[in-house]
Amino acid sequence: MSAPASSPDRSKLAVVVLISGRGSNMEAILAASDAPDYPARVVGVVSNRPDAAGLATAQARGIPVRVVNHKDFPAGEAGRAPFDAALAEAVDSFSPGLVVLAGFMRILTPGFVTRYEGRLVNIHPSLLPSFPGLHTHRRALDEGVRVHGCTVHFVTAQLDHGPIILQAAVPVLDGDSEATLSARVLAEEHRIYPRAVAWFAQDRLRVEAGRVRVAGSPTTAVAAFHSPGGA
Ligand code: GAR
Repeated sequence: MSAPASSPDRSKLAVVVLISGRGSNMEAILAASDAPDYPARVVGVVSNRPDAAGLATAQARGIPVRVVNHKDFPAGEAGRAPFDAALAEAVDSFSPGLVVLAGFMRILTPGFVTRYEGRLVNIHPSLLPSFPGLHTHRRALDEGVRVHGCTVHFVTAQLDHGPIILQAAVPVLDGDSEATLSARVLAEEHRIYPRAVAWFAQDRLRVEAGRVRVAGSPTTAVAAFHSPGGA
């Protein structure tokens, strides 16, 4: 007997997405997962903010959501471990094979990171290890870099660190503002995050000595791109 069309395809990797706001990277992964041959499915979305716009987006697609409001926990260091324990409980309720941080703006405890070691990924809006932390686009403009971008990486206990899976670079153009540069980077985030999640789901990622090898992916350079261009 064949399953009804709406029943989940259990051959696909179950993914939980953690958000704090807009959720456009979550949406990019959801859009990619609409393709019948995409190897992962989003089984749940968890936010630390009840007003995160991405929650409504997920619910509109029928994805179950949970909120673990960090404001319900003591401020500062005292609240971190209990918050992370509640967060882990919410994540585990979906039994995911992969946990995807998509604009999740809380620093996680080493205990949380260890619990999901090897199956916890993040996207960061810079070419790491440049510009870890906040305000990456403003800092890139302040430094006058000519190339900027985004990084998908495995999460380790060190903030915005960990083995790099995939990066995309964009030029910094004369006259760029924080808004124009962040929009250029965000468009690339939406391209690379679904791809990295698919690679993980296809079991193509291996971490060796802190470096990620992607099975079946060319390691030769495509071409250099120069910013600014010209002779
Ligand atoms: C994205 O640009 C993401 O790279 C960044 O927050 C934004 C979330 O947007 N994440 C970080 O800065 C984490 N250090 P989104 O909610 O629309 O996906």
